[in-house]
Amino acid sequence: MNEQDIRVLLAELAASLFARGYSVGSAGNISVRLADGYLMTPTNASLGRLDPARLSKLDAEFRHIGGDQPSKEVFMHRAFYQARDDAGAVVHLHSTYATAVSCLPDVDASNPIPPLTPYFVMRVGRRMPIIPYYRPGDAAMEPAINAAARDARAVLLANHGPVVSGKTLTDAVYAAEELEEAAKLFVMVRGQTPRPLSAAEVDDLLRTFG
Ligand code: 13P
Repeated sequence: MNEQDIRVLLAELAASLFARGYSVGSAGNISVRLADGYLMTPTNASLGRLDPARLSKLDAEFRHIGGDQPSKEVFMHRAFYQARDDAGAVVHLHSTYATAVSCLPDVDASNPIPPLTPYFVMRVGRRMPIIPYYRPGDAAMEPAINAAARDARAVLLANHGPVVSGKTLTDAVYAAEELEEAAKLFVMVRGQTPRPLSAAEVDDLLRTFG
């Protein structure tokens, strides 16, 4: 895909997320790795109304070289790209149920959402830890995200929301949607005794679907 097509796709996917309530106001930010740098959503932009031509362009060292001023959370995206060679895109949302789980003090912070459904495992993977609370835009969270992202495709920022990587922009968006769905199911069945997928079933999914 060339850069122009990626710009258009990013705006389309972001508008779709916004239209379905995955982000509100100017919450959330999205980035994509290019051959010569990165595209990123501008700071304070609504995901519902992005102009493909005004997306922020960053060079390979994450310096702003074009378009509007980038998200104040460039470092959150950089943490994933530097930790994971397989990260081609990163999506950060304040989606309701994933954010609800990020506020729960009595969950396993190393992996709060059990493997309830195959698509959560297939899209998000075996583990998704919670990163302790930092103020939005606080670059001090970068080392914590970087360390966690080495063996997790996604993390939950405590009291804030999910950050999800994927091989492609579409993969990252699909993973963010599956994560929100899994968080919703987790909240719905909390206090009941659902059967999570077994370790063998999780292994089988990851072997089959990667
Ligand atoms: P930006 O508008 O700077 O991208 O910040 C939005 C956000 O989601 C903060 O967590």
